[in-house]
Amino acid sequence: MWFILQMLQFQITFSLETIIEISENAKFWSDVQLSSPNNTYLLNIANKANFPYYAINVELHKQDDTFSLHYGIGKPPKFSLSLSEISEVQGFDIYGYLENRFTHFILLSSEDFQSRQVYISTSSEWTQNYNISVTATNNKLCPNNCNNQGSCQDGKCLCNKYYIGNDCHQKAIYIQQNKEIILSLENTVKYAYVDLEESENESMSLIVKTNSSEGVDLYIMKTRVLYIPALEDLNRKYYDLLVEGNEITSSSPIEFELKDRNDNSTLIQSRIRFIFKQKSLVEQDVHISMDLINQNTQNTISTTTVIIIVASIAGIIMILSILFAIGKYFRNKKIKEAISALAMVRQMQHEKKYIAKSFDDEILQQLPQIESDQIKNTDICPICLDLYTSKPDLRSTKCKHLFHKECLLAWIYINKNCPTCRADLKIHMNLQRNQQQQ
Ligand SMILES: *[C@@H]1O[C@H](CO)[C@@H](O)[C@H](O)[C@H]1NC(C)=O
Ligand SMILES: *[C@@H]1O[C@H](CO)[C@@H](O)[C@H](O)[C@H]1NC(C)=O
Ligand SMILES: *[C@@H]1O[C@H](CO)[C@@H](O)[C@H](O)[C@H]1NC(C)=O
Ligand SMILES: *[C@@H]1O[C@H](CO)[C@@H](O)[C@H](O)[C@H]1NC(C)=O
Ligand SMILES: *[C@@H]1O[C@H](CO)[C@@H](O)[C@H](O)[C@H]1NC(C)=O
Repeated sequence: MWFILQMLQFQITFSLETIIEISENAKFWSDVQLSSPNNTYLLNIANKANFPYYAINVELHKQDDTFSLHYGIGKPPKFSLSLSEISEVQGFDIYGYLENRFTHFILLSSEDFQSRQVYISTSSEWTQNYNISVTATNNKLCPNNCNNQGSCQDGKCLCNKYYIGNDCHQKAIYIQQNKEIILSLENTVKYAYVDLEESENESMSLIVKTNSSEGVDLYIMKTRVLYIPALEDLNRKYYDLLVEGNEITSSSPIEFELKDRNDNSTLIQSRIRFIFKQKSLVEQDVHISMDLINQNTQNTISTTTVIIIVASIAGIIMILSILFAIGKYFRNKKIKEAISALAMVRQMQHEKKYIAKSFDDEILQQLPQIESDQIKNTDICPICLDLYTSKPDLRSTKCKHLFHKECLLAWIYINKNCPTCRADLKIHMNLQRNQQQQ
């Protein structure tokens, strides 16, 4: 995936070869067919903008995941589709791009361009046919008119029940409190959401289980955008874009605390969206269950009852905790402490105080060393995104992907799948033997 991004970045360099003037009166073109995949339009409204807002809407005639819509004020936009370089959505319809939609949308405010020229660029790897329209308006319009499945308020769609996404295009399961929901994956991506508005002042937990032994990928989107991120995108905090990734299997259900309502640092929306994707295409009939528990309700059990219950199950809990201590340690780390796998790798590299360190030798024996003179100077390690040549010891996985020794080692303690292709790394760790040795 990193490779693809790099190629994109290389190909989408800005060119000013086509400039089409658009005047406020000519509000609509149909079937703009262009000889070049890159086009720049000059929006001819600068000195005579009579409306507070101008909505630019592009309807593609066929789906194109390389298409993106940009704008520049005072100068043609400069853009890079390398996600690692995007720090804000300004100048770029990031939702349309990441969600790979037919509709792309930008809302410009005449206050922002203040009699400077406005440039609109489209970019794609292919020649595309599309309709592009400019609507001058007194109100902040919403993308795609919220697909008629939500209401537009101040330029943002408030989706009706059972719909999510920037423009409410996606149907999703609504996760209710204290009512277990079963979802059948059928090899398709499924969406669900929790509405934090409805859990005001309460601390909630969502427990997610699956009967898939191969595993299900779970992405938590605290934003409007809905897309399956590439591994290296996880937890890149774009302006309004926050993603976490996790894996669930039948032997490792996960539990989240949902109390992000008060976290305004990332403009979190009140809906937390979950995307589920089955890992194995072969496994049939994979089910997911979601149980949203109100933690306050649990606290209302009387103290005496609690004491009796605690006393009688304390022993069992103790045994269980010892048995699962190590597994849980990793899992809890995975879910609670770190927001993403990548962040955790960094943290682990930083702290270097893991019990698990004692497995290093055993793991490394299973990862063949690769001579660095076979490596191009410009290639990078997909985990730390640093040049392979920055560290001497390179290791290859069974699926023939290459990483720095340190990066891969840190990774393996939290994830047993290849960071690049997600294949099982088949790393064997002999827990018992290592414990006895200590
Ligand atoms: C493009 O515009 C033409 C003419 O208005 C219309 O017939 C056509 O349906 C539009 N296509 C799309 C994909 O919106
Ligand atoms: C954009 O135009 C430039 C110059 O013609 C070209 O080199 C580049 O490949 C184009 N971009 C894409 C994505 O084709
Ligand atoms: C939540 O807390 C606010 C202030 O802290 C209070 O005004 C409101 O009534 C509370 N809501 C519920 C449902 O308890
Ligand atoms: C978050 O909200 C609190 C209270 O509403 C406010 O005091 C704080 O400045 C906000 N922080 C940011 C980063 O907006
Ligand atoms: C998961 O559970 C459902 C319902 O109990 C069952 O039909 C299905 O076969 C199970 N799938 C797997 C992979 O165990």
